[in-house]
Amino acid sequence: MIPTIIEDVRARKVLDSRGNWTIEVDVITDYAIGRCAAPSGASTGKYEARAFPDGGVEKAIVEVEETIAPELRGMDSINQEEVDRTLHEIDGTDNFSSIGGNTAVAVSLANAKAAAASHGLPLFQFLGGNFSCELPYPLGNVIGGGAHASNSTTIQEFLVIPVGARDIAEAICTNAEVHKKLRDELTKRCGNLGKGDEGAWAPAMSDEEALQALTRVCDLVEQETGVKLRLGLDVAASQFWNEKKQRYVYGDGRELTPEQQVEYIASLIEDYQLYYVEDPVQEEDFETFAELTSRVRALICGDDLYVTNVDRLRRGIQRSSTNAVLIKPNQCGTLTDTFKAIKLAMNEKLVPVISHRSGETTDETISHLAVAFSIPIIKTGVIGGERIAKLNELIRIAEELTPSRARLARLPKV
Ligand code: PGA
Ligand code: ZN
Repeated sequence: MIPTIIEDVRARKVLDSRGNWTIEVDVITDYAIGRCAAPSGASTGKYEARAFPDGGVEKAIVEVEETIAPELRGMDSINQEEVDRTLHEIDGTDNFSSIGGNTAVAVSLANAKAAAASHGLPLFQFLGGNFSCELPYPLGNVIGGGAHASNSTTIQEFLVIPVGARDIAEAICTNAEVHKKLRDELTKRCGNLGKGDEGAWAPAMSDEEALQALTRVCDLVEQETGVKLRLGLDVAASQFWNEKKQRYVYGDGRELTPEQQVEYIASLIEDYQLYYVEDPVQEEDFETFAELTSRVRALICGDDLYVTNVDRLRRGIQRSSTNAVLIKPNQCGTLTDTFKAIKLAMNEKLVPVISHRSGETTDETISHLAVAFSIPIIKTGVIGGERIAKLNELIRIAEELTPSRARLARLPKV
């Protein structure tokens, strides 16, 4: 028998970083095991795949063992598209509400890892071939509020990207330095300091105070390391959009119309030279996204807007809503769907940014996908075991790439 034939598919529940159960799947071939655990969001997009079926993780495990495993046994793990098509057929809905998107993504990615391991190759090389040698810049969440922490900022994530880093280790270390130095700066400004779900500091301060503190710390780190940093935001605007009032309602009492929201975000981009802004507008409003994108020079990225779904991405492309798209495999449920979204984005000159979720495990698959598909930016968080798992894997991948070939991707100029 060829060593890539699937012999069995097994599932178990494991803890995620929030202390919730999630699903982990092993795909077993004659020769190797591929293992993947699914992450979970807290500020999930309305249109993303449903994470778990009715009955939660327990039911997802039963689905794998009783329905999915019998169908996949005997199939060739090399044939990723067939595996993913089978998952869609078993599910029979358009958002994986029957078996769960997390069930699907764990099986799908575990299969890819099993196929790679059966060939004795790391996943990034198995998927990307010998040409994949670019490492993504880490976009790190260093201050966070919104749905990820209480009593903190309204904007969900304040991010840094070390645009001047010369290699992956320097890039990772620069972000960590910002996170370290922020502790003192934020404590000075607001006293006690907590942390949010992704390991970012959660200070009781306004969004602009957070931006000011972050700017100061980035200046300090730049002076010390010589590595230029730029700032970014994940506004996660759907979380504070009030449908009834048709206003964005901020923690400090401001209530902004969509037009005022565009003005406000554009002013933040200018004042703080923001490189990246995710979900500045709520997830239904493709037009207001387009208005902002046409006005500013920054990456405007859709997360809840697109939910890694090619149909929604096409709608955004038609309207020029954004110039970047967030890629989260568990939003769409399979590797094939994830790849289609990345390919569509690249064909249309949108920048793909691959991302962790707020609830994570130490699974490091997204680091391999970033390198395999030449994705220039990875959003991962900066510290905490489940965050550094992705970053440290990039260091290991760089090592496999022989020093002369391993280089950081070319960052889009904005
Ligand atoms: P989530 O948040 O994983 O909680 O959905 C991350 C994000 O909005 O990017
Ligand atoms: Zn987001």
